[in-house]
Amino acid sequence: MIYTALAAGGIGRRMGAAIPKHFLEINGKPIIILTAEKFYDLSDRLFVGVSDNKKAYTKELFEKFNLSEKTEVVTGGENRMETIYNILNEIEAKRSVTDNDIVITHDAVRPFVSKEIILENINLCEKYSAAGTFVKTVDTICTSQDGGFVLSVPERSSLYNVQTPQTVNFKLLKNILEKHISDFEKYTDLCGLLCSEGIKTAMVNGEYSNIKITTPSDLKFAEGFTEKNKKEGL
Ligand code: CTP
Repeated sequence: MIYTALAAGGIGRRMGAAIPKHFLEINGKPIIILTAEKFYDLSDRLFVGVSDNKKAYTKELFEKFNLSEKTEVVTGGENRMETIYNILNEIEAKRSVTDNDIVITHDAVRPFVSKEIILENINLCEKYSAAGTFVKTVDTICTSQDGGFVLSVPERSSLYNVQTPQTVNFKLLKNILEKHISDFEKYTDLCGLLCSEGIKTAMVNGEYSNIKITTPSDLKFAEGFTEKNKKEGL
């Protein structure tokens, strides 16, 4: 079975909107729906983790856009890791998980992910048990401990930006998350967690357009990008 776990338990503090950013619309459609549509036909079941007070609203949205048949809405967690963990627990409670089952984890606020990226995640996860999505870093990156002075500048040619989807064998992921319940806060996504456990993560070539909509300027870019694609018939 291929499960999709959509992380939508955040509130979008940096976006500063009156509602969580994944419910904002791009050209008339909520971001969370645009994202879910990409995964719907490519997975057997879709689990969406949202804050408890948004569960009923999320269910309504998925019904309105004809995505409810394969979808379950789950209570999200205090942080992204916990949201994914809650989804895995819900999958286990509802389904009998087998050794070959995989989970595609994805940010609900990355609606521009392509089907090719999703398919390659599935393909590499089936082969290597763990896969993620990456693009080569375009900016030069520096480190600093105090934000006042530069500490070092790592060589750019070996640096990548980490995107989602990140796709892992269900049982492997569940075991790792169980081990790290007390330090979920330390990890912004699964990539760091997999590395800390010494799990080899296969790399899928991401796309620069697969942005995580985080700030108001990202939303403006997203609207323009969607409009342009529409005009070009994409
Ligand atoms: N996320 C989640 N559960 C949380 C926190 C975040 O599922 N408790 C999800 C978000 O909904 C988002 C993804 O993780 O889809 C990436 O997180 P981020 O962009 O940081 O989203 P927010 O936490 O919503 O934004 P901010 O940090 O600006 O508050």
